[in-house]
Amino acid sequence: MAFNFDEIINRAHTGSVKHKLIKRDGQSEQTDRANPEMGEDRLLQLWVADMDFAVAEPIIEALHKKLDDRIYGYFTPEKSYFDSVVNWCGRRYDWEIDPDWIKLSPGVVPALYIMLPKLTKPGDKVIVQRPIYPPFVSSVQAAGCEVVSNDLVYDRENLRYEMDFDDLAEKAADPDCTAVILCSPHNPVGRVWTKEELTRFAQICLDNNVLIISDEIHCDLIYDDHKFVAMASISDEIADRTITCMAPSKTFNLAGLKSSQIIISNPELRQTFTDAIASVGLYGSNGFGPIATEAAYNHGEEWLEAAMTYIQDNYAFVRDYFAEHIPGIKVVKPEGTYLLWVDCRDLGYSQEELVSKLLDEAKIHFNDGVTFGPEGGEGFMRINIATSRLFLKQALDRMKRVLG
Ligand SMILES: Cc1ncc(COP(=O)(O)O)c(C=O)c1O
Repeated sequence: MAFNFDEIINRAHTGSVKHKLIKRDGQSEQTDRANPEMGEDRLLQLWVADMDFAVAEPIIEALHKKLDDRIYGYFTPEKSYFDSVVNWCGRRYDWEIDPDWIKLSPGVVPALYIMLPKLTKPGDKVIVQRPIYPPFVSSVQAAGCEVVSNDLVYDRENLRYEMDFDDLAEKAADPDCTAVILCSPHNPVGRVWTKEELTRFAQICLDNNVLIISDEIHCDLIYDDHKFVAMASISDEIADRTITCMAPSKTFNLAGLKSSQIIISNPELRQTFTDAIASVGLYGSNGFGPIATEAAYNHGEEWLEAAMTYIQDNYAFVRDYFAEHIPGIKVVKPEGTYLLWVDCRDLGYSQEELVSKLLDEAKIHFNDGVTFGPEGGEGFMRINIATSRLFLKQALDRMKRVLG
């Protein structure tokens, strides 16, 4: 089946966060400039992590069918939803899970905010690996805990990040350190951690009784020649100390349906999570999210594979464009996700100058690298490439004009 990822869908005035906000100086602006025909005035939105692609047809059909119910009362998913998650995990990651382990949450970020205060006590230390997706930091802080960063190590020559296991072992050995939030695959650096890396990481956590919260929301967006391994699939012992966060939201472009799965094999941890969700009054779920999830997991694989091919071609396009026209910018080699972490430090601009050139002069909205960590993010930008190649080309041409 052919899919048209080149299609340009006007997302202005659809409530799309990506096309509404310019997060600068706290200002927000409604932009209806989603059409490339608007030319140079159009603000190119290549930031927040959703795709500009239409979702797979079977998902749209399932949602239409749900609409035909004509009654949208309180909702809790049917068994077929849980089966679809179980089958997806078995088929894609060779991870056998029990349907009872699956708990729903209206998003992974809400799950972090809701569960952290119940799994830690104020003053505890929680490890993250910077540069990192900002809500990892804010959710830890909201729980009254201290953020400790086991910074990733950047190998600039090979455009690749690695974990610093010695530093992790040192930080995990602190008796106040009770949990770690792992980003697997990693946003923003695009690493798909190998089984060896994950096993070593987990062993350090087990040795020090540190709980692993493994955010695997990007787990289906994997480049060719890389393999995603679910942390909890490695061994029962690791699973027993792991809370896994997954969702179809990134994979199938369903973030606005607010439905994710938190998978927990340890009965006590699962009860803690269930109690945490109940403590904020979240019973049942949105009626459309699980319906879309089930259709995606049962019938969306072909679309996903085609989308990943398009995304990988977009990466190659961006990498080659920079090499030819703006050699001062290097793209960290992605192994997963549709986000590119780009190193602009050779251009010699301060972060403020860089952001201003891109946003004010080129009218392109990327994520400012500094928001992923003050040090590791300086000189970097994050580009969302899950968009039509035409938009990407426009963005790159504008960058060439102001930076090249
Ligand atoms: C690592 C990571 N976790 C969570 C989220 C958001 O999750 P949700 O929309 O389910 O709250 C994102 C979105 O970019 C992400 O990159």
